[in-house]
Amino acid sequence: MKIGNQLKIKKKAIYFFAGMVTIFVITILGIQYYNDYKYRQTHEFKLLEKGYTKEETTILLEKIKEEKIIELLNQEKKDYLISIITEKYYLEKNLDQYIEFYEKNKNKGMYDIIAMVNVHANQEWYETTTEADTTKENLILVNKYYQLKNDYTPENLTLVSNWYCYGKNQITKEAYDSFLNMYQKAEEQNIKLIINSSYRDYQSQEATYNNLKNSYGLKRADNQAARPGHSEHETGLAIDIFSPGNTTTTNFKDSEAYQWLKEHAHEYGFIERYPEGKEYLTGYNFESWHWRYVGIDIANKIQEEQITFDEYYAYYLEQ
Ligand code: DAL
Ligand code: ZN
Repeated sequence: MKIGNQLKIKKKAIYFFAGMVTIFVITILGIQYYNDYKYRQTHEFKLLEKGYTKEETTILLEKIKEEKIIELLNQEKKDYLISIITEKYYLEKNLDQYIEFYEKNKNKGMYDIIAMVNVHANQEWYETTTEADTTKENLILVNKYYQLKNDYTPENLTLVSNWYCYGKNQITKEAYDSFLNMYQKAEEQNIKLIINSSYRDYQSQEATYNNLKNSYGLKRADNQAARPGHSEHETGLAIDIFSPGNTTTTNFKDSEAYQWLKEHAHEYGFIERYPEGKEYLTGYNFESWHWRYVGIDIANKIQEEQITFDEYYAYYLEQ
C-alpha cells in the first residue's frame, strides 16, 4: 500500500476515534445535565433549596404526603415543622391545624399543641360537637366534643348490690364484674371502695348540671360537670368512687383508696379519667373519684403511656 493511502486511513481512524470520543463526552455531559435537571425538579432539591437540612428533608418526605409538600414549598420555611411531625402523637390529617394553632400559641410546648389539636381542645369547648360513636362499646368517647343522643341507653346495665354503693347504682355488666374483682383485691389490702354515683340518664345528668349552674354559674358548672348528652356517666361505664373516711370530692384524693386505684385500677380495666394537670385536655377539673371502664388491655396501655382517654382515642381509634 502506498504511504499516502496509509496516512489517509490513519487520519480517518483518528477522526473516527475523535468523533466517537466527542459523541461519548457529549452523551455523558447530556446525561449528567439531564439528571441534574431532573433532580432540580424533585421535592428533595426544592426543600433543600428552601433551607431545610438533609435530615429534615428526609423526615419531611417520609412523613408528609406529596400534595402537602407542594403546599409547603410555596410557603416560607417553618423552623418548627420538624418538631411538629416528630412528636409521638402527630397525625398527618391534623398538620394544618397544628400549624395554625402553634402560630397563635407559640408559648405552648409542642406536646400540648399536638395533644390539644388531636382532642379538639384547640376549639372552644362545645363550639362544635359531633355524635359519639357508640359502636366502640367499652371505648365510647363522650366528652365536650362527642355527644350521646338524648335517648341513648347502654346495653347490659346491671344493678349494683347495695353492699358496694351508696343509693341506687347501675353500670354495664362487664364493668360491674371487673369492679367486683377490683373491690375484692382492694379489700384484701384493707382498702374499701364504695360506688357513689354511676349510670345517669340524660335527664338525671341535666339535673346534676343545672343544679351546679344555678348554684355556681356556667363556668364552674362546666369545669365540674358535663352538659347533658356529654357525660360519661350516660354510658354506664363510669363510676365515682369514695372510701369510708374519704367521702367527699375534696378529700378522696388524700385517701389510701385513691393511691391504690392509681396503682392498680388499670389491672381491672379502669382508668383515671380526669387526672390532675390534664384539665386543658379533658375540659374538667381534676376528679380523683371518677374512674372509667375501658377494658384491661386498653387500660394497661393508657397507664403505660400516661395519656388521657381523649388522647388515646384520638390517636389510636379515631383515625
Ligand atoms: N363530672 C363529670 C365530668 C360528669 O359530669 O360527667
Ligand atoms: Zn363522675
